[in-house]
Amino acid sequence: MRIRIYFFSGTGNTAWVAHHLEEHLRSLGDEVTAHSCEKAKATEFNPQDWDMLGLLFPVHASSAPVIVQDFMRDLPPGDGMPLFAVTTAGYAAGDTAWYAVRPLGEKGYRPFLLSNVLMGNNLYLPGLPVLFPTPEEMKPRLAKAEQKVSHLAELIHRQERLVEGAGVGGRLLGITQRATDKWLNLPAFYADEDCIRCGWCVSHCPVGNIEMTDEGVRFGDGCVHCMRCFNFCPKKAIQVVGAKKKIERRYRGPEGKPRFF
Ligand SMILES: Cc1cc2nc3c(=O)[nH]c(=O)nc-3n(C[C@H](O)[C@H](O)[C@H](O)COP(=O)(O)O)c2cc1C
Ligand code: SF4
Ligand code: SF4
Repeated sequence: MRIRIYFFSGTGNTAWVAHHLEEHLRSLGDEVTAHSCEKAKATEFNPQDWDMLGLLFPVHASSAPVIVQDFMRDLPPGDGMPLFAVTTAGYAAGDTAWYAVRPLGEKGYRPFLLSNVLMGNNLYLPGLPVLFPTPEEMKPRLAKAEQKVSHLAELIHRQERLVEGAGVGGRLLGITQRATDKWLNLPAFYADEDCIRCGWCVSHCPVGNIEMTDEGVRFGDGCVHCMRCFNFCPKKAIQVVGAKKKIERRYRGPEGKPRFF
């Protein structure tokens, strides 16, 4: 089967799942290519060239990240093409996969597998404790994630139906997390005195929201809260407006290194 996967990954969790899934599906004999939504254009996807579409993305308050919502909006009509969606969560996905891809169902795609993989939390919210897993805590999670991805690959290969999170519990959790998003104090950022003006954040922001000026790094108004710049600045110089003190801990992705594509 020819399978096209698109994914978005702010801090590497979803990229990890996407590439592991790609490997498993290939080992089952499928022809698979996984591309980041950051690097691909949805309008160039031609359903005639593929047998199946897969979308992978992080849970952002039980919804898809804005980048993925835009990408889905730009996809052409599906004409009955089978679709699977897999989210990565930091703590609880609720009904995200089911909720987020409903617009694609309306466009003629046929979702048959909607699932979630638990990874590590990458979100810091001002005023709350820093809840990033340590590399040690990530090891057993990654082992479980690997098992789950392998199982999902088998199901996808056989086009078996699996819908996770759309029962009463998942729906309630999803509704609650989407409601809290309305009053959640999502972080705004600034670069502190440790910034060495290396430009890494400028070239890696997926929406071009960071620029280098004569005064140093400047953040615009278009942040989509992927948490990449904050977590991966090599000097930990990016801080959160409103945090009581300088934050030292960061989430450096599932394998401790930057891999987003
Ligand atoms: C803005 C934002 C909202 C989030 N909301 C949730 C959530 O509702 N439930 C959850 O389990 N994790 C949540 N997370 C954590 C991420 O979904 C999780 O860390 C994900 O695996 C990150 O994937 P990535 O590294 O590919 O970006 C949120 C993260 C961000 C940045
Ligand atoms: S990545 Fe960090 S050190 Fe480099 S320019 Fe951005 S804020 Fe400064
Ligand atoms: S400013 Fe930082 S957190 Fe916001 S979209 Fe850009 S890289 Fe992501």
